[in-house]
Amino acid sequence: MRFSPRHTLALAALFAAPLAHAAEVNLYTTREPGLIQPLTEAFTKSTGVKVNMIALKDGLAERVAAEGERSPADVLMTVDFGNLVDLVEAGVTQPVSSETLASAIPANLRDDEGHWFALSLRSRVVYAERGSALSSITYENLADPQWKGKLCIRSGQHPYNTSLISAHIAHHGEAATEQWLRGMKANLARKAAGGDRDGARDILGGICDIAVANAYYAGQMKSPDAKGDQKAWGEAIKVVLPTFEGGGTHVNVSGAAVARHAPNRAEAIRLLEYLVSDEAQGIYAAANYEYPVKPGAPVDPVLAGFGELKVDPIPLEKIAAHRKLASELVDKVGFDQ
Ligand SMILES: [Fe+2]
Repeated sequence: MRFSPRHTLALAALFAAPLAHAAEVNLYTTREPGLIQPLTEAFTKSTGVKVNMIALKDGLAERVAAEGERSPADVLMTVDFGNLVDLVEAGVTQPVSSETLASAIPANLRDDEGHWFALSLRSRVVYAERGSALSSITYENLADPQWKGKLCIRSGQHPYNTSLISAHIAHHGEAATEQWLRGMKANLARKAAGGDRDGARDILGGICDIAVANAYYAGQMKSPDAKGDQKAWGEAIKVVLPTFEGGGTHVNVSGAAVARHAPNRAEAIRLLEYLVSDEAQGIYAAANYEYPVKPGAPVDPVLAGFGELKVDPIPLEKIAAHRKLASELVDKVGFDQ
C-alpha cells in the first residue's frame, strides 16, 4: 500500500507527537507524599501537566543549592514559614508575580516579593478539658498566675513554639516576651517536652488543665478515623482559638516557592495557581485538618467546629525575622529545664 501525501502528513504528526516535549513539572517536597498525591493527580487531570514528585525528608535547601544551575527542581514545597524563609536565604527561589496567587493568598501569608506562598494554615491553639468553661483566651494570658501548675506545652525550641514566641516578639518586643516566657515557665504542670498530642493526653490524665498545641492534631484525634488512645485524648479536650491582644490567632503554614533555576517555570506557576483554586484548597486542607489559605474556601467540619479562625495580621516574614531571638530567650529563661 502506498501512502498519499495526506496520509504521510498524518503519520508524521502521529510520530512527532511523542517526541514533542510533554508538559511536566518537578515538585520537590518535604511533605508526606500521601498528602500531596491527590492534589498532583487532580492537577494533572485538569491541566494535562505531569507532576514528577521528589519526596525529601529534610535538607531541601541544601539539595537544591548543591544541584545548582542544573537543578531539575521547579516547585519547592515544605512546611513552616521559617523553612520557606530559609529557602529564600539560601538563594534557591525566584520571585513570581501572579495575579491569581496575589488575590487568593492574603498579603501577610506570602513573601512580599513573591519568593514563597502559603498554601494552607496550621493554627497554634489551646486545648482545654472538654467540660471546662474556658471559651476564649489570649496568648498573653498563658503567663497569668491563674494557670500556675496547670499548663502543658512541648519544648520551647520546637519550631511550632519558636514561631509563636517570634510572633509575641513582633507584637510586644523582647523584654515583654522574656517576661511572658518566665510566666509560662512558672505555670508549667510538667517539663516542656513531648509532642502536641501529649497535651491532650495529659489533660485526660489530670496533669494539666490547658495545653498549647496545633489545631490539626486535635482534628486528627477528633476525626471519625481516630482509634484507641488517640480517640480518647481527642474526646477529652476541646479547642479554644487564642488571639494576641489586639491581633489574631498565630498560624504557621505549609507553602511553596518556584525554584531559582526552574526548567519548567510556566508549569511551576501553573501548579501553584492550581493549589490555591477552590478545588485544590478543599482537597489540600481536608488531607491534614489544615485551614485553606484562601479566604472563603471550604473548611473541614471538624476544624470549623473549633470556631472561626481570625488570622493574626502581622506578616509571617516579619515574624520569621525574630526566630533567632526567640530561641535565645527560650534558653535564657531555662524554659526547657
Ligand atoms: Fe506536626
